[in-house]
Amino acid sequence: MFASSRFGKFRAQDRILARLKLRGDETVLDVGCGHGLLLIAAAKLLPRGHAVGIDLWSQWQQSGNSRKATLRNAALEGVAQRVSVHDGDMRKMPFADRSFDATVAHFAIHPDENRLNIARLAKQGPPEIPAKAEKAMSPLDELTESIKAAVSADSVLGKKLKFDLKGQGFIYIDGGSVTNENKPADLTLRLSIDDLKAMSQGKLAPMNAIMSGRLSLSDMGVAAALQGKMQVLFSKMQRAS
Ligand SMILES: C[S@@+](CC[C@H](N)C(=O)[O-])C[C@H]1O[C@@H](n2cnc3c(N)ncnc32)[C@H](O)[C@@H]1O
Repeated sequence: MFASSRFGKFRAQDRILARLKLRGDETVLDVGCGHGLLLIAAAKLLPRGHAVGIDLWSQWQQSGNSRKATLRNAALEGVAQRVSVHDGDMRKMPFADRSFDATVAHFAIHPDENRLNIARLAKQGPPEIPAKAEKAMSPLDELTESIKAAVSADSVLGKKLKFDLKGQGFIYIDGGSVTNENKPADLTLRLSIDDLKAMSQGKLAPMNAIMSGRLSLSDMGVAAALQGKMQVLFSKMQRAS
């Protein structure tokens, strides 16, 4: 069986794992395990089994991503003995067919061919291929979700703000609402998706982006007034990722 999910990160692992109806002695593979959210939750349900993670440790998709960090998380959660982690790419799985009782993934699966590649690893069948709606997020969806998570607790900015992503879509923030609408805003920041992502991760300083022409602002006065609040938004995005 293959299960995956896209939304509601902190409860999604329960939903995905509940669908597997584990007895506790199975071996489960978490594809694109990252820091081990699902992997560790699975290991807790497998007192006589084992949870295996595979990841290529993209720093773009998850900051501080590493096998060491994931194993440390497993140790902190008391399941290190029942967790192992492989360095690898889901497109070239280093496992034999039907090596696992079940495979899971959260926020990690990309094209359809990977789904089939993953499904063949599970003993249980026929494999459940997730519907189109459960496909992994596009970079625009990912950024929008991460901004939603950052503004959901409180309305951080107090102004209507729009990211114009140079032909790759829009992210519109109005109070606690975050959409992909292209509506009038108090401040529009025009930059590429990659640069917005880098900025939200603290890898690109806004001033450098402006000076190098990678970021343009519709209103310098509003931008100056919002500078501190934008920093708060970006740091919340980092914490939510
Ligand atoms: C957004 S993170 C999600 C991590 C974790 N599953 C979670 O829900 O917190 C996506 C993960 O998939 C991994 N990943 C992306 N493409 C991959 C591939 N082709 N093979 C293996 N892992 C991949 C990334 O390195 C990253 O750790």
